[in-house]
Amino acid sequence: MTPPVIGQDLWTAVDRYVSGLLSPHDPALDAALKASAAAGLPEIQVSTNLGKLLHLLARIRGARAILEIGTLGGYSTIWMARALPKDGRLITLEFDPKHAEVARANIARAGLQGIVDLRLGRALDTLPALAREGAGPFDLIFIDADKPSIPDYFTWSLKLSRRGSLIIVDNVVREGAVIEADSTDESVRGVRRFLEMMSAEPRVSATAIQTVGTKGYDGLSIALVTADPE
Ligand code: SAH
Ligand code: DHB
Ligand code: MG
Repeated sequence: MTPPVIGQDLWTAVDRYVSGLLSPHDPALDAALKASAAAGLPEIQVSTNLGKLLHLLARIRGARAILEIGTLGGYSTIWMARALPKDGRLITLEFDPKHAEVARANIARAGLQGIVDLRLGRALDTLPALAREGAGPFDLIFIDADKPSIPDYFTWSLKLSRRGSLIIVDNVVREGAVIEADSTDESVRGVRRFLEMMSAEPRVSATAIQTVGTKGYDGLSIALVTADPE
């Protein structure tokens, strides 16, 4: 057999091999992807294997309260909400009414409407509202909305967490563009500012991992909050 060429086709094939074995087809998740595509939502949800990773991290953490910033059609939401106990709660923030409508239907089809609370609005408005109403602390926070605002989302996440919380940020490698110090791409600049801010933050211990798969070359960062907020 000729050795496979390392690149997108192989990454996709290996992702499919792993998900086929360890995350086989699931009616609610499959229906969510189908309904999201049919409604014309961008197909930028986490891959199956990263969805499973979020689910496992929530279970490892023993999470009872989860916050997600950036719902889209609720695919990652469903993966994480399924890690919660029956009396657990997941709040997810989305500013596009069409995405929110599709997500609400997908979440209900998955039987998770009693666990998931979708808040419509710009996250920089809904996050302070959450803080005002005393929501949290959250055991796991998944940041996956607009990338230029990641530094602000990280600041809010710290306020809404406690010692032991996980703060996970998607899309931090951006095909390697993250190392370009002089990048003019606002998403790259947002990610770099966030990583620099996190590196100077004594209340977390963190890393970032490069990933390849069906969505190409990207990565995610994981921070463990090691101190209670002031
Ligand atoms: N977490 C999802 C993918 C989210 S895609 C999954 O993996 O399944 C990013 C989402 O963030 C989009 O739906 C977009 O509308 C939303 N978004 C972008 N900017 C936002 C903002 N300022 N406030 C709230 N949501 C925002
Ligand atoms: C985009 C956003 C995401 O959260 C993602 O995982 C991939 C792409 C985007 O806005 O293009
Ligand atoms: Mg993402």
